Order: sequence, then structure tokens, then C-alpha cells
Amino acid sequence: MRSNILITLTSLAVASAYPGPPPPPGPGPKYDFKRPGPNDSRGPCPMLNALANHGFFPRSGKNISIDQIVSGIDLALNLDPASSRPVAEFGATTSTTGNPQTVNLADMAAHGVIEHDGSLSRADAITGNANTLNPSIYATFIANFAGKTVITIPDAAKARRARIAAARAINPNFVFTAREDEFSRFETSLYLAVFGTGTIGNAPKKWVEVMFCEERIPYKEGYVRPTDVITNDDLVELATKLITA
Ligand code: HEM
Ligand SMILES: *[C@@H]1O[C@H](CO)[C@@H](O)[C@H](O)[C@H]1NC(C)=O
Ligand SMILES: *[C@@H]1O[C@H](CO)[C@@H](O)[C@H](O)[C@H]1NC(C)=O
Repeated sequence: MRSNILITLTSLAVASAYPGPPPPPGPGPKYDFKRPGPNDSRGPCPMLNALANHGFFPRSGKNISIDQIVSGIDLALNLDPASSRPVAEFGATTSTTGNPQTVNLADMAAHGVIEHDGSLSRADAITGNANTLNPSIYATFIANFAGKTVITIPDAAKARRARIAAARAINPNFVFTAREDEFSRFETSLYLAVFGTGTIGNAPKKWVEVMFCEERIPYKEGYVRPTDVITNDDLVELATKLITA
């Protein structure tokens, strides 16, 4: 009886440590940032790469399960699993692991699934490798926010449009239908929702730079997991604002 109570209390303590907010400034030594090694898999999503670099997913970036993607995003960013799971499932359709429930981060460069032309920090599939940042493309993206410390919705919308126009101009096989446009808008919405305030944007530019350039969560720069869950409705609202902004 007594030991049953102890077991219950112990599991409650464990349960309450997850998925509650990690103590500032970061979530503890288990989740320290480490650069990937030469055999680790990294992909076209700067945030998934960052989460692997912090150990929210297996640091190898290989054979990551859909459940690990969903719970890692929840633990690190407080993004509603109801929003991340369908995207994680769709991403896993690119899997080359032999297990449809798991995926290597690099698999997600498969062109035309989620990966699309006109990315903010990557060259188009026809011209380059979508799994690593392209410094000159990224430089043109971040130059849209020159002299600013926060990224507003109108500035993010402008930067996204400029990148699409530039990619369209140099890629004779440029593909950008409503579907690619929607993925692209959601990706901009994601960085605004995760680093900005609610659905009004204003993401600290430095934090966005740390995600793209170092594939690191900007704990040192002041990021803390938000106490309010980021919902799919929040992302839809931001994505809608990006159309008219
Ligand atoms: C739910 C699981 C997720 C999956 C499967 C996923 C997958 C991807 C893929 C395949 C791309 C490449 C698209 C392209 O530019 O061609 C991408 C881009 C991107 N993702 Fe994720 N992602 C996920 C979650 C997130 C989260 C939580 C964030 C939060 C900030 C995020 C931020 C971004 C950004 C900003 C880009 C655009 C990169 C660029 O244009 O250079 N993603 N993602
Ligand atoms: C990477 O893989 C190669 C080939 O299997 C191996 O020789 C090397 O030791 C690995 N490097 C690391 C850092 O694990
Ligand atoms: C891949 O992940 C699955 C599910 O997490 C696990 O059962 C399997 O052993 C892993 N395979 C390898 C080669 O690591």
C-alpha cells in the first residue's frame, strides 16, 4: 500500500516535469546544444535541425519516429501536437529508413513533398542542396530586416515575396502553386508564432538568425518556452495575415 502511494507520487512528479515549461534560460544539460557530427543527418527544416542539435530528438537525426518529432516540438516550443502531428506524418512519407513510422531529417529534402522552391535560406532543389543553408540566399532574406530588431508581419510578408520573386527569376523550372505557397506561408508563420508574440508577429530578429544560422534554440539570447500553447488556429491566423500584409 505504502509503496503503491510512493510509486504514484513518483510518477506524478515525473509527469509534472513534462511537458511543463523548462526552467529559464534553457531546458537543462540533457538538452545542451551540440553541433552535428559528420555522420548525423540534418535536413531542410532549420527548426527540426535545431531540435536535433539540442537532443529533443535523437541527435543523429536518423530514424526519428513521428512521436519523437511531435513530443520534441511540444517539449521545446509548446506547439500543439494536434498541429505538429499531421505535418510530422506528412514529412515521414519521405522516409528512407524502411519503417514508415520513422524518418531521417535529410529524407525531407525530397522535392515536392514539403520541400519546395523559393525557400528563405536554401537554394531551389534544381540548383543546390536543400539540407544546408545557402549563405547568399539567406543574406538576401535577412537583409529585408536591416536596421530592425524585430520582424513584423508586414516585413516577414515582404521578405517571403522577395525570395519567391528572386527564385522565380533564376530557376527555369520554378514550381510555386497554391500548395507550395501554403507551405511557404506556414513556415513564415511558424517562425513568427514560435519567436514572436501570439498572432501579432514581432519575432526578435536575433532569435530567428540563431535558428537559421546556428540551428540552435536561442536560449542564451532569452528565448523561453511560452506558457501558452501555440495552436493551429494561431498559425492559420498568421498565415492569413501574410496574404494581405
Ligand atoms: C511538424 C514537424 C515539421 C516538419 C515535418 C517540418 C519540415 C520542414 C521541411 C521539409 C521544410 C523545407 C521546406 C522548404 O523550404 O523547401 C521546412 C522548412 C521550414 N520549417 Fe519546418 N518542419 C516542422 C516543424 C517546424 C517548426 C515547429 C518550425 C518552427 C519555427 C519550423 C520552421 C520552418 C521554417 C522557418 C522553414 C523555412 C526554411 C526556409 O525557407 O529556408 N518547422 N520544414
Ligand atoms: C562516421 O562513419 C564512418 C564510416 O562508417 C566512420 O568511419 C566514422 O568513424 C564515423 N564518424 C563518427 C564521428 O562517428
Ligand atoms: C528505428 O526506430 C524504431 C522505432 O523507434 C526502432 O524500433 C528501431 O529499432 C530503430 N532502428 C534502428 C536501426 O535504429
